[in-house]
Amino acid sequence: MNPAIARLYTIAQQTHRLIIGLMSGTSVDGLDVALCRISGHGFATTLELLQFETVAYDAGFKAEIQSVFSKKQVDLEKLTLLNPWVACRHAAIINDCLLRWGIPNNSVDIIASHGQTIYHAPKSLHHLPGFGNATLQIGDGDHLAMATGITTISDFRQKHIAAGGEGAPLAGYGDLLLFGKPGEDRVLLNIGGIANFTYLPGTGGEQLFCSDTGPGNTIMDAYIQQQFPGQYYDKDATVAGTGTANEALLTELKDNAFFGAAFPKTTGPELFNLSYLNEAKGRSNTTTLSAADTMATLCRFSADTIVQAMLRCFGEQKKLRVYSSGGGMHNPLLMTYIKTQLPLLEFETTDVLHINPDAKEAVLFAILANECICGNSTETRNSNKGLIGVQMGKISLPA
Ligand SMILES: Nc1ncnc2c1ncn2[C@@H]1O[C@H](COP(=O)(O)OP(=O)(O)O)[C@@H](O)[C@H]1O
Ligand SMILES: [Mg+2]
Repeated sequence: MNPAIARLYTIAQQTHRLIIGLMSGTSVDGLDVALCRISGHGFATTLELLQFETVAYDAGFKAEIQSVFSKKQVDLEKLTLLNPWVACRHAAIINDCLLRWGIPNNSVDIIASHGQTIYHAPKSLHHLPGFGNATLQIGDGDHLAMATGITTISDFRQKHIAAGGEGAPLAGYGDLLLFGKPGEDRVLLNIGGIANFTYLPGTGGEQLFCSDTGPGNTIMDAYIQQQFPGQYYDKDATVAGTGTANEALLTELKDNAFFGAAFPKTTGPELFNLSYLNEAKGRSNTTTLSAADTMATLCRFSADTIVQAMLRCFGEQKKLRVYSSGGGMHNPLLMTYIKTQLPLLEFETTDVLHINPDAKEAVLFAILANECICGNSTETRNSNKGLIGVQMGKISLPA
């Protein structure tokens, strides 16, 4: 037997596994590296987050990614080169983290790599007859496995699409396994570049689902990067906080078929980008709006569409707990806009559930990798609501 297969077989039978979850989302801000100790699988999963770090991308790395990111037309040679290059950069980050944490590479069982999303194209975006849902993440798993010596599971989203989904959001699986609590209605809200939430009713069952809501930080980040070269985001809403939301622009921003479409649904910066903003400005005669007012409006846009999606999901304002995660939760104005519109909801972060909210998405991919090699929990999945009962990920052996 191939010794790497034998090792994988052993790993799958261990009582616990050391798995590194990696996440690099549409914000292209950095690589989230979460070292997890995971026991069991399915509803018996328990997870301890041993180490976590977000390693910020340098300006050169960001520029390379941005040269192909969410663009309809790109330099195909560059895209081909970036696929292994991103993996090698990620591998170097992992090797460095492990060295600093004093963890030998050979004690880590699995790397769970999301990869860098380059383009997300559900049918609702491209409308091309004869073509289905599609998404592309780069950072090849074989390169990661070879450069770290660690078995790598990557490219999780393709299986979800192959089984009939849109490839996103995948957060619902891990949210259910880690955070579902009988008798308590919970919402797990993640505000990355795109915002998504998982509704976990205390009764379990059919109402559970996970969906994108629309933009989180993505248009705000793109606008800041355009208006303030060298700045990547509006730290602590410094710019937005001095502005006033423009109602006419806000109305036009919200006028898109995505918001009326049925759950679950997915989107990305391929739709919610600066062209989207500029078209809405044109329609609302607000092309001369100041940067501060534009940012305040964009912040309201994200908040309002998150709130509206949640209200539509519950049917009414309910007394339930929302556990936030993702970079948007650090934006005080965004969170205030959300909380004031949902006065009956109690807001926490996933910290109270013992998962660092900045690490949550990376942790969820570690869970998916654990399910890939150990799980058979298709009965926990709700195929009506996007949690399709498949094991996801491609296995790359380190030899
Ligand atoms: N202090 C802060 N104030 C405002 N926005 C913040 C703050 N910290 C993080 N963010 C936002 O969070 C984003 C990163 O969120 P993240 O969850 O990593 O998203 P992704 O999964 O898309 O990478 C940043 O680009 C920024 O917009
Ligand atoms: Mg990020």
